[in-house]
Amino acid sequence: MNSPVLNISKLSFGYNNRLAEKTWVIRELNLSVSKGEIVCILGASGCGKSTLLNLIEGLLQPISGEIQIVSNADRKRPIGYIFQQDPLLPWRTVESNLMLVTDLSQETSKIDARENIKQYLETFNLNQEILQKYPSQLSGGMRQRVSIIQSLMFNPDLILLDEPFSALDFFTKLKLESEFCHLITQKEKSAILVTHDIEEAVAMGNRVLIMNTDGALIKSFEIEKSVEFGSPENARGTAKFAEYYRLIWSELKAVISNE
Ligand SMILES: Nc1ncnc2c1ncn2[C@@H]1O[C@H](COP(=O)(O)OP(=O)(O)OP(=O)(O)O)[C@@H](O)[C@H]1O
Ligand SMILES: [Mg+2]
Repeated sequence: MNSPVLNISKLSFGYNNRLAEKTWVIRELNLSVSKGEIVCILGASGCGKSTLLNLIEGLLQPISGEIQIVSNADRKRPIGYIFQQDPLLPWRTVESNLMLVTDLSQETSKIDARENIKQYLETFNLNQEILQKYPSQLSGGMRQRVSIIQSLMFNPDLILLDEPFSALDFFTKLKLESEFCHLITQKEKSAILVTHDIEEAVAMGNRVLIMNTDGALIKSFEIEKSVEFGSPENARGTAKFAEYYRLIWSELKAVISNE
């Protein structure tokens, strides 16, 4: 197994209610993610998936337990966070949004940033002309690609994605899933993907986890990425895919109906 990029042990978290008491959302959660791995998390609405990502990103502080991010020592920002709503700044052109990294950190020179932009545009099938446009002039699929690239510009080791493809049409979604998986493998990054879509989880994940309504990860499925399985676009339709889908759906149904 590859080296770990994230180790979470006995993580607990709750929000304060109006009486300043804790409403527990995450309880004693353990999770490790290895280099090159895509871990998908499924669970009922409100079970704590986004809360978990916010804890990993450092937007929220654990009440107890530990979150350890293993990264190159010289990297200031080992995590990239891709929200469901893209974070592009509407008053900046696409190019200026992507060059943001050079304003926020000294780690990337302008020359390197331009070279990275060029390569990412190719990876995500975007035309150079897009750079002079403003976010409002782009389609949903383009905006989502640009916000993924914006996050990748910081060269994160671990990428967190919160339902990133849910607002896209089916074919754009399939394409983006494949492009994203290809990139993770090629660049040896890791990702945690929160989704409501079992198909997406099976197609993209090396591992699919189910979170129950107590905010615990209760089931784990290893998805064997055989040659027959191929890219997320090809995986759908294979017999193995249908098998994983059935297995995970029956577990998820049990969790959701226990609410
Ligand atoms: N800032 C907050 N203050 C208090 N409670 C919150 C806050 N944010 C979320 N919650 C509560 O914490 C629980 C988990 O919320 P979270 O957003 O993590 O769920 P989720 O699994 O991401 O749901 P969804 O699938 O609908 O996005 C919910 O009961 C929610 O109401
Ligand atoms: Mg959420």
